[in-house]
Amino acid sequence: MGDVRHFLDLDRLEADTLRDILEIGASYKAGRLNGRPLEGKTLAMIFEKPSTRTRVSFEVGMRQLGGEIVVLEHHDTQLGRGETIGDTARVLSRYVDAILLRTDMHEKLTELASLSGVPVINGLTDRSHPCQLMADVMTLEEQRGSLDGQAVAWCGDLSNVAMSWVHAAVRFGLDLRLACPPDQSLSNAETAWIDENGGRVRVTHDAAEAAEGADCIVTDTWVSMGHEAEAARLDRFTPFRVDEALMARAKPDAIFMHCLPAHRGQEVTAGVIDGPRSVVWDEAENRLHAQKGILTWCLA
Ligand code: CP
Ligand code: NVA
Repeated sequence: MGDVRHFLDLDRLEADTLRDILEIGASYKAGRLNGRPLEGKTLAMIFEKPSTRTRVSFEVGMRQLGGEIVVLEHHDTQLGRGETIGDTARVLSRYVDAILLRTDMHEKLTELASLSGVPVINGLTDRSHPCQLMADVMTLEEQRGSLDGQAVAWCGDLSNVAMSWVHAAVRFGLDLRLACPPDQSLSNAETAWIDENGGRVRVTHDAAEAAEGADCIVTDTWVSMGHEAEAARLDRFTPFRVDEALMARAKPDAIFMHCLPAHRGQEVTAGVIDGPRSVVWDEAENRLHAQKGILTWCLA
């Protein structure tokens, strides 16, 4: 199974590979690439959590590339009744050409990949959301040019999306400032990985400091799926809300990004997300183009 092209996390793939995947996605978007290279291929998508963008962009992307999809909702598969991930991986590998999994524990994803004979794609876990980041870096590059040295300020919950920003920052040379409450930080292993790879990532508990002179301010919901019990402690995120005053600290032409779904009045004000510096709809569109890059790299 060593040659199977899994798309599990950006820290598990080389920068050149990620650049190739981005280029494929951008080429489909620009019309430089077309055709139906995935004719005869089928993608199975397992959703143990809700999804709008990931589900629709992968489904539409797969169809545009000539392929087919099968969606497995958690509650009406045997997984929902306790069949193991390992047995599911072995069976699905006999029917389909790739498997996308959206789940809670990251270990379920790595177990699936270790037992699957076909590529496995991370459709979001509690640890990371790498497909989102491929769309995000595509958007940042379209809006602001070369990624190397771009200053990005993450403000809010150090979520799964934030972790994929960390990986993307190291792989694409971004200067990433993570502004989060004092009870959150990176683990020692994450910090060591950043240092070993020459990354420019730092944690602060001061949103204004992070935003100073940034090219992009980005955030995510304060309550991720499956973490609803933490909603009682939302007050600690208030100093990290992205509002007009915080945007004013960034460069005058800085952009605002958000993976969506958003909660206006919590992590971002309506004035910012619906304002002129927000690129969230282009970012959402780029999920489709980035997905096509990932699918082609995994399968074609
Ligand atoms: N951003 C994102 O992954 O959205 P969905 O949860 O709708 O897939
Ligand atoms: N951090 C969010 C991202 C949703 C796309 C969540 O996990 O719910």
